[in-house]
Amino acid sequence: MSGVKTQQKSVLVAGGAGFIGSHLCDLLLAQGFRVTVVDNLITGRKQNLQTALSQGAEFLERDINDPQALQGLEFDQIYNLASPASPVDFSRLPVFIMNTASQGHAHLLELARATKARILFASTSEVYGDPAVHPQREDYFGNVNPIGPRSCYDEAKRYGEALSFSYHRAYGVDIRVARIFNTYGPRMRPDDGRIIPNFFMQALQGQALSVYGNGSQTRSFCYVSDLALGLMKLMQGSITGPVNIGNPRENTVLEIALIVNQLIGNKTPVRHLPLPENDPKQRRPDISRAEESLAWRPSVSLEEGLQQTLAFFRQELASRPEGVITPTLG
Ligand SMILES: NC(=O)c1ccc[n+]([C@@H]2O[C@H](COP(=O)([O-])OP(=O)(O)OC[C@H]3O[C@@H](n4cnc5c(N)ncnc54)[C@H](O)[C@@H]3O)[C@@H](O)[C@H]2O)c1
Repeated sequence: MSGVKTQQKSVLVAGGAGFIGSHLCDLLLAQGFRVTVVDNLITGRKQNLQTALSQGAEFLERDINDPQALQGLEFDQIYNLASPASPVDFSRLPVFIMNTASQGHAHLLELARATKARILFASTSEVYGDPAVHPQREDYFGNVNPIGPRSCYDEAKRYGEALSFSYHRAYGVDIRVARIFNTYGPRMRPDDGRIIPNFFMQALQGQALSVYGNGSQTRSFCYVSDLALGLMKLMQGSITGPVNIGNPRENTVLEIALIVNQLIGNKTPVRHLPLPENDPKQRRPDISRAEESLAWRPSVSLEEGLQQTLAFFRQELASRPEGVITPTLG
């Protein structure tokens, strides 16, 4: 029966059928937690949970925005990773994204309050917007355009953080807030428009790699197993956060294109496209807080992580004879 507390810690992963959530489930199961997933599959896939389900995870296909979705459930810990997260979703699902970090997250906070569970909110480096401070520390308040095309996500996550802290202050709810930086690895959607899936899919299909602007903008990419471990350590640890979880190695977009080409062994040219509005020019986490308070830092190198990711994308492409269309961001 789902959600009854036993000696084995019970954990709810909202958004567990997604890219990061499914890896988190695998890790939690390997660590001996009892795992229940709530996911409405809007951007996730049940096949991401193949390993987790075979290890005993329970899956509930529900939308956290539905006030009835969580009725009768009880857990020791709740991870809220439920949210569409890629730029293609920002134009497709802006209102849904805002509702999920507000109403949906409030439903989970109410559950945590009623059952005395600890709850972790998966926030994002997008709360820093196009940052005027580099690298980004948790005490930087950010530079977000509140009405721009990314605002449905950036502001929703800022609200989700504020709501978490409000429940903490008003009702003593035991919260954790993680600010996740760009993450990559197997189970990413090949057509979600982010740099790494785009580059791999384009290179594997012999298409030019789409680089927005001149490609000198930087990103820091964290491999998903490192990220999942960081989330688990934050949940287990004693600090509320926010804590940046990401990889401080910074590369330009052009450097990533070069590495992808080297891994695949070809020389696909790049195609320059106009920079999307409010695209951040640089992103790199300062992870001192995670290092000091959680003894966490990433260990998987970009080259190693990209090899694993390439193997996954090769399989994805092989299973889609029609090919994969990579979206262009406006
Ligand atoms: N991937 C990244 O680089 C990154 C960076 C920063 C923050 N994050 C955050 O981490 C979390 C996971 O991201 P991801 O990349 O795995 O995205 P994802 O889209 O693969 O996973 C999100 C999951 O949440 C589910 N979901 C969305 N709304 C829901 C709702 N209302 N009710 C139930 N389920 C819902 C989706 O179906 C999906 O399975 C998100 O909250 C995202 O904002 C991700």
